[in-house]
Amino acid sequence: MDRYYIKICNSTNDTAKFFIESGVEIPFVVISEEQTRGRGQQGRKWISQKGGLYSSFVLKRIDSKRALIIGALAAYKTLISFLPVKIRFPNDILVGKRKIGGVLVEQTSGATIIGIGINVNQEAFPEEIKGIATSLFLETGAKKPVSEIADILICEVEDLERLDYEKIFQEYYKVVSLRGKCFLHLRGGREVACEIKDIDEELDLDTTAGFFNFNDIVWIEWIY
Ligand code: BTN
Repeated sequence: MDRYYIKICNSTNDTAKFFIESGVEIPFVVISEEQTRGRGQQGRKWISQKGGLYSSFVLKRIDSKRALIIGALAAYKTLISFLPVKIRFPNDILVGKRKIGGVLVEQTSGATIIGIGINVNQEAFPEEIKGIATSLFLETGAKKPVSEIADILICEVEDLERLDYEKIFQEYYKVVSLRGKCFLHLRGGREVACEIKDIDEELDLDTTAGFFNFNDIVWIEWIY
């Protein structure tokens, strides 16, 4: 896929939207060295200082669950050769209990944007996320060219994109962690405390509090 490298932007997902509207040929990826308004899930911000990898992959519109799995698996596979990471369901990339990567999927009418952030060379994080974030450098003591990590990530996304859903789900199912207590925040404002026992191909959840459709879940708050 075509690659667009930029120095700084608000959010690569927003730049990707602008490129789509401008008629840039899909598929493509936008990679920025920094973001001034990086966005995370639930409207949170994604702190995006230099040293991190900020990327948005634009594919012809695909199902959100497929996009989410491609994003999470690609980030996981990129990092697993360097250190023991895990995917916390549905798409947080963790080292132990700290977050090293995240995925933000956004849809337009004709395209799917898979925003993937990976903390690569950051030496420290601001106070507000210090206890919950980590980077490849902080974990291994070695700095890596961000471009090297980006190249691996792009290959992983391209490989996964070619596979059918059953295949990528199987791969995801083998490595995704469902362990721990969580609150399911459901549409309509209801909250349910439970542990997830299993997931199926639709990402619907079998839990200690019953069965939940993934589409009814606004977000999952993990508790340790
Ligand atoms: C999360 O909250 O876990 C999702 C984080 C996603 C961050 C990436 S960085 C590249 C892309 N641009 C954004 O503004 N967000 C995503």
